[in-house]
Amino acid sequence: MKKTTLFVWAVCICTLALSACTQQQEAKEIRPMEIWPDNAGVHVNAHGGGILYHEGTYYWYGENKSDTTSSAMVGIMCYSSPNLTDWKNEGAVLPVVTNDTTSEITQGCIMERPKVIYNEKTGKFVMWFHLELKGKGYAAARSAVAVADRPTGPFKYLRSGRINPGKLPFDMTDEQRAVLDTLDAGKYTEWWTPAWYDAIAKGLFVKRDLEGGQMARDMQLFVDDDGKAYHIYSSEDNLTLHIAELSDDYQSHTGKYTRIAPAGHNEAPALFKKDGTYWMITSGCTGWDPNEARMFSAPSIWGPWTQHPNPCAGKDAELTFHGQSTFVLPVPGKKDAFIFMADNWRPKHPSDARYIWLPIQFNEGKPVIQWRDSWTINDFDHLLN
Ligand code: DGJ
Repeated sequence: MKKTTLFVWAVCICTLALSACTQQQEAKEIRPMEIWPDNAGVHVNAHGGGILYHEGTYYWYGENKSDTTSSAMVGIMCYSSPNLTDWKNEGAVLPVVTNDTTSEITQGCIMERPKVIYNEKTGKFVMWFHLELKGKGYAAARSAVAVADRPTGPFKYLRSGRINPGKLPFDMTDEQRAVLDTLDAGKYTEWWTPAWYDAIAKGLFVKRDLEGGQMARDMQLFVDDDGKAYHIYSSEDNLTLHIAELSDDYQSHTGKYTRIAPAGHNEAPALFKKDGTYWMITSGCTGWDPNEARMFSAPSIWGPWTQHPNPCAGKDAELTFHGQSTFVLPVPGKKDAFIFMADNWRPKHPSDARYIWLPIQFNEGKPVIQWRDSWTINDFDHLLN
């Protein structure tokens, strides 16, 4: 081969290699609040969701929202992606039941905030979500569980119910228990009075729901470094958060739970762990309207949990940038990189709800979230200090 031909070949190979390299490094933009098209060009329909990273693929599970109602008309969706920006619609991995009105997940029920975790011991993917029975508003306040052999399902629906019937928080002292025993529901028929708040904090609703099990609405799952999993949910009519331990197979509760911020009115818990500290971002309770995020931290999952100021900073921080927390994703392979995920709800046109994903930065060890019109996963490299 002539020297010039060899040279041309060498240049071509170098150019190809360089462009492959650049393609690998160039991450696509994440644009909070905009339409996020999936592989078919349709806005991703996975609201109140969370992400499971499994064997190199991200699986995003969320609520399918229809155009006119927030009730479940389709079921729980899954999207897969190699990079957090290109999403393939894997369909409804736990569809509603359309041919049996007696099913707990019959079409028209409410299925919210699904989360999926992988159990190393059983090899099963376990989904928990907040279930409300059709036609009963938000009164049922149940948790439902489903399992699958593959991340893309199909998920087999197991059951639903209230949580830990007959159990009091494991860390309730004898003194607190004695106070609980004296609480008389008949004395607190008027809600929202200082005396009522005080009684709630002391466990009025824990006592009310003791026999049938504790209420659970907005929820999160968290798997700790030792493989133990926890269910975190708004209980006691959304007044108090509970953290409950899951069984070894993640498919039931062990009976051990604690209360966080009694009478504090927190929803939308999103938990993560950094350098041994547990962080939790929550919202207040204003239905579909945004409010100011709250933040808590603890040295152990069982507490004590300390409240901190809102981690959001800048314009519209007091409205969580018009969003409500749903999940915090630790980015695999990037130390100290966490993505705050929130929903911008659109109750008049639920399927048009938008996603707000923002990088979490740390200022003197404390999480800070700032608005960005657009950013990429690679931004973490220079965001970190
Ligand atoms: C706020 C919750 O965070 C949502 O998941 C949903 O339950 C709405 N309330 C319903 O109003």
